Formats: sequence, structure tokens, C-alpha cells
Amino acid sequence: MPLSEAKIGVLTHALHYGTACIEGIRGNWDSRRRRFCLFRIQDHYERMAEGCRILKMGLPYSVDRLCQLTGELVARSGYREDVYIRPLVYKSSEAVGVRLHNLDNDFLVVVTTLPPYLDAENGVRCCTSSWRRVNDTMIPPRGKICGMYVNSALAKTEAWENGFDEAILLTQDGHVSEGSGENIFLVLEGKLMTPPSSDDILMGITRDSVMKLAKNELDIDTIERQVDRSELYLAEECFFTGTAANVAPILEIDHRPVGNGKIGKVTAKLQKLFAEVMAGRNSKYPEWYYLVSPKAAKV
Ligand SMILES: Cc1ncc(COP(=O)(O)O)c(C=O)c1O
Repeated sequence: MPLSEAKIGVLTHALHYGTACIEGIRGNWDSRRRRFCLFRIQDHYERMAEGCRILKMGLPYSVDRLCQLTGELVARSGYREDVYIRPLVYKSSEAVGVRLHNLDNDFLVVVTTLPPYLDAENGVRCCTSSWRRVNDTMIPPRGKICGMYVNSALAKTEAWENGFDEAILLTQDGHVSEGSGENIFLVLEGKLMTPPSSDDILMGITRDSVMKLAKNELDIDTIERQVDRSELYLAEECFFTGTAANVAPILEIDHRPVGNGKIGKVTAKLQKLFAEVMAGRNSKYPEWYYLVSPKAAKV
């Protein structure tokens, strides 16, 4: 249905209590072949299924069916440019009262566009946030749960108001966790490092893609281990990964240049590789692509 007709009641549980899970999926328009490439859509829906289990919800259809329906929506959307797909599973009962049980669930998916999220071309300036990452005993960050994004929003706006592009959140015990909407990587002594799942990160699909590309294409292993804040200051290179951010070089952290303050070699290579792969222009990763041809818009 047209966006203007899609309405949700004002007492919807998820609106009041954040009881919902989202995903963010890129659909890249290939103008030469006139088709969309939805990047790792199955993985996004599988992650969503996990978040739903945490919130005692179910997906309305199998992952395969959701991929088909999303493909159909993109095909009929009328867009002929890169799109951003936002599925949402939410507690839909119009009921007051904080809980997860005895509530209905519903599902929606919206296709829209996404302006560049971080300046991936020129690199970003970051600060470590005064806000700490929520941890698994509070709101499990691996769930992509809507309520958790208040934690991200506090950090992002604090960073922005202080003149930075993005925040890096630390865990409760002071280790590096992730950006407000991105995972983080460091290059230290030529190796890639990234915080592990136990440091309250969302298990990013871009993170996983970049680790695989680094190994397969550049023969660089990634070490998943706890990262100290001061290691950020000593890193040769640093970058964010995420569906919105893609691979975004970090050039400055807490007023200290990262490496020589320019986009590093490993980062630049991964940025280029990922951009190619994500746009569906690399035939080595067909399992990551869900191809969709546009249809005349029906709505
Ligand atoms: C908190 C957080 N971390 C990391 C990511 C990156 O995950 P992905 O690469 O799957 O988009 C996101 C993206 O939505 C996020 O919101």
C-alpha cells in the first residue's frame, strides 16, 4: 500500500515501549542490467528471527517467503535507484502495560532511499561516548531491538553536538564495543581486530562480509578480541562497518589522528572491495545476492 495509507494506532505497544525488532537491508540498483541486488537479505531475516525469539515474537512467514515478498515489494516500488529496506516486527496490541507476553505481533516492511549516512569518502571524526553500551543483561544488543536504539541515539547526538560525526561506545567494563549504528575494526600491526560478540555488539552482516573479504581477497585474518580504548589511539587504521555506513574510514578519535590521519591502505582496499561486492558486481559471492527485476508499480 502507499506509505500515506499505512497507519498504526497511537496506543501500539511498540511505540510506547520499544518492543520491536528492525532490520536494515540494502537493495542496490544496477542500471546496466536493470535489476536490484538485495544484499544478504536471507541473513538479515535470519538475524531478525533471532531478535524476535528474544522478544517472544515470531516472524509471520519463513525467511524464504519474506525474501520473496520483499523482492516483490522492491520490484513494484517504482524506484530505479539504490533502496533501503526496513522490515519491522512489533508488538502491535493497542495495550498499556510493560511486558512481552499476551500481546499480538505484526510485521511491516517499507522501501525507501537512504542518503549517505557517514562521509565514507572523506572519513569521519569520532569521540568515545560518555554513554556506555547497554549490555546483554539489559537489552541484548545482538537483537536489533528498537528500544536499544535510545542508547545509540543518546551517544550519536552527544557526539554530533560536540562536533563529531559519530560516537564509539564502550562496554560497562570499559572495552570498545561499537559505533551507534556500526561495528568497528582496527588495523594493528597489519592485522585486523574487532570486538567479539561478548562485548555487546550487534553481530553485523557487513562486519561478517568484511572479515570474509579480508581473508579471501587480501589474505588478512581478523582477530575477534577485547579492544582497549587506548588501542584506538595506537591503531594504524580504524574503520566502521554497517549497512548504512558501508565501510567508513575513521580519521580521528578523541582529537587524536588515527595513524597518519589519512585513509589507510587496508581500509581503502576493503572499502573498494566491499562496494563492488555489495553492489552485486562481484560474481564470486552469488550466495550474498538476491536479484530482483522491477515491475510496473501496482500501487
Ligand atoms: C548498533 C549497530 N551495530 C552494528 C550495525 C551494523 O550491522 P549491519 O552490518 O548488519 O548493518 C548496525 C546496523 O544496523 C547497528 O545498528
